[in-house]
Amino acid sequence: IGKLFKTESLSGTQIMITAGPTWEALDPVRGITNHSSGMMGYALAQAAIEAGAQVTLVSGPTALTPPERAKVVNVVSALDMHAAVMQDIQDKHIFIGVAAVADYRPVDQQGQKIKKSQDEMTITMVKNPDILADVAARNPAPFCVGFAAETNDVEAYARGKLERKKLDLIAANHVGGEQTGFGVPDNAITLISAEAATPLPKQNKYALARQLIAEIAKHYQTKNA
Ligand code: CTP
Ligand code: CA
Repeated sequence: IGKLFKTESLSGTQIMITAGPTWEALDPVRGITNHSSGMMGYALAQAAIEAGAQVTLVSGPTALTPPERAKVVNVVSALDMHAAVMQDIQDKHIFIGVAAVADYRPVDQQGQKIKKSQDEMTITMVKNPDILADVAARNPAPFCVGFAAETNDVEAYARGKLERKKLDLIAANHVGGEQTGFGVPDNAITLISAEAATPLPKQNKYALARQLIAEIAKHYQTKNA
């Protein structure tokens, strides 16, 4: 009868999840950001808690209410998110990078509002650190799961990221065109490991998150058996 109840498949497991966009300020009122509601990351945090894990959610700016039992660290920029993750990663068993981290930030951040002048302006930007790759490069590294939102050649690009960043799993997400991805309740992904690509069908993000957490738990336990 115990099997009828939800399996506490991640009890005793410490998980860190990044979620939402990052905001790269240009001046006090403007910035450059990515399209991300935070929904998928928050849904995964909720599902991981339901599976018995202790969850630290490092979140960029979103309009969402975090799961009650999550430890939440709110951040704004990619540099903030990187620092918050590195600060707290050492005792984590699993890291899931869901955040839509800005790849670049403006070189200069003005203390005052930039005034309108010429017809054209140029913003010089510099690359942000890759949070997920830096976590995966640790020794020992936690079990690392990435997300890849791609508009084309989804599986090939996602597999490239799995290999380049030395991840255990990557969830590949087709964005643009269809009714999945940003800001909509449904999502469909393909979960890719070194050995296999498993399509998880289009469904509500909370249902998808539960399925993903079950898959992550299975792979994590296999690796650590
Ligand atoms: N990621 C990260 N830090 C960054 C950029 C990305 O942690 N500075 C993580 C994302 O949270 C995601 C994964 O890396 O889990 C893949 O992000 P994505 O933007 O798809 O890949 P990039 O390596 O940035 O490549 P590109 O944007 O050129 O496709
Ligand atoms: Ca990117």
